[in-house]
Amino acid sequence: MSSVVNSERIPNNVNLSGDKKLQRALEAWQPKFIDWWKEMGPEGFMEDQIFLRTAISVDHEGWANFDYVKMPDYRWGIFLADAVPDRKINFGDFIGKPAWQEVPGEFRNTLRRLIVTQGDTEPASVEQQRLLGLTCPSLYDLRNLFQVNVEEGRHLWAMVYLLNSYFGRDGREEAEGLLERRSGNSDKPRILGAFNEPCSHWLSFFMFTYFTDRDGKYQLLALSESGFDPLARTTKFMLTEEAHHMFVGETGVLRIIQRTCQLMKEDKNGDARAQGGIDLATMQKYINFWYTVSLDLFGGEISSNAASFFGSSLKGRAKEESYPDHLALEGTYGMEVPVMGANGTPATFKHEDVPLRNAMNEILRDEYVEDAQRGVDKWNRAIAEAGFSVQLTLPNRRFHRASGIYAGLHFDPAGKPLTKEEWESQKGAWLPVDADEVYVKSLMTAPIYEPGKMAHWIAPPPRGIKGRPLDFEYVKRSE
Ligand SMILES: [Fe+2]
Ligand SMILES: [Fe+2]
Repeated sequence: MSSVVNSERIPNNVNLSGDKKLQRALEAWQPKFIDWWKEMGPEGFMEDQIFLRTAISVDHEGWANFDYVKMPDYRWGIFLADAVPDRKINFGDFIGKPAWQEVPGEFRNTLRRLIVTQGDTEPASVEQQRLLGLTCPSLYDLRNLFQVNVEEGRHLWAMVYLLNSYFGRDGREEAEGLLERRSGNSDKPRILGAFNEPCSHWLSFFMFTYFTDRDGKYQLLALSESGFDPLARTTKFMLTEEAHHMFVGETGVLRIIQRTCQLMKEDKNGDARAQGGIDLATMQKYINFWYTVSLDLFGGEISSNAASFFGSSLKGRAKEESYPDHLALEGTYGMEVPVMGANGTPATFKHEDVPLRNAMNEILRDEYVEDAQRGVDKWNRAIAEAGFSVQLTLPNRRFHRASGIYAGLHFDPAGKPLTKEEWESQKGAWLPVDADEVYVKSLMTAPIYEPGKMAHWIAPPPRGIKGRPLDFEYVKRSE
């Protein structure tokens, strides 16, 4: 892969110094980004030295260089995976044509929208997580939180690079907008629902990085197929970083489960809460919540937008090469589409064969569901190994949906239609209620800064980061 010029104000492998106009635009955006980071990034740790991975080149060795750095001094840069020589578009109506190196005029607005929507999620998650450091369960976890945060910042840079390079003045305005919206703010919210939900404690953080970052993985996989080559190359490199975020989520949840099972064994009634742990029933509620708000991020099951993204060769399927037919003009996707029941009765279903292109969101969601299940299986193996028969499950995809064909209807976690009254009376057993939030937060009132020490409710990880021991000082506090 091409190496990175790291001596410039903005590290990059895109020959930024060869495009003075673009360089000026990004250097003008940089201080605004730093202001945003100081205001909305992790609260209370800007002066601390954090043991972080920083990309200093995109090759095998250099993209994962570990060292201590203060977060505001992190080298946020612009890295694209290397170009595939003579790359051809591999799906949609433009299949076989050379990949676009410039924005095709007819798709300019659509592409900009795709990039802005992806870009908006990156700073949003940093905002959602900004207070978590103050209640960290260990220095190891604190460092992982910050690793995720700085990389989401870099993902924002990646999208801002595309906006500035290829979309002129509109792109510059969108880049400003990405720093102006705020997660959860009713006047200027982030674009997508899940990115406005509060992530107010570490159980939600681990669920978020497991379920919501995994939506990111699938969106990036689909965009990395794009006929617009700069977008494909940008998102390809982002995927390397995304893997760590999901690792943080999967292992975080696993470590809570391990500790919970240990506490269940120690309690004469098998009650983890009585021993100051997070019981499995509560964990199930948070799975139900974060999984379903993440399902919504894929968009409507039947979608003309998805069809046009695919048809225009702008957004493919995850691992497009694994499908036999890249036109998707023939064939259908069978769906049981719910129909609102008359006079408040539960929904019924009617079968619909949806033209394949219109079902692209659902096809991507299928891949996501399967992938999400893998971690749940691992969690369940840990529970079984501890000698318990409880199993955690992913709810049916109809459950608790705010967009698409199930929105506004009511289903139980198994997917059975309910009346509104049935839903209202039972939803508190399925989704976190205020008392759950209060309980979980009550376990996380103070941070743990002593190297190697873990909060009571979570097991230690099996190993540290990059060969360092568990009691390594992953964050050096400044005071
Ligand atoms: Fe990201
Ligand atoms: Fe991420």
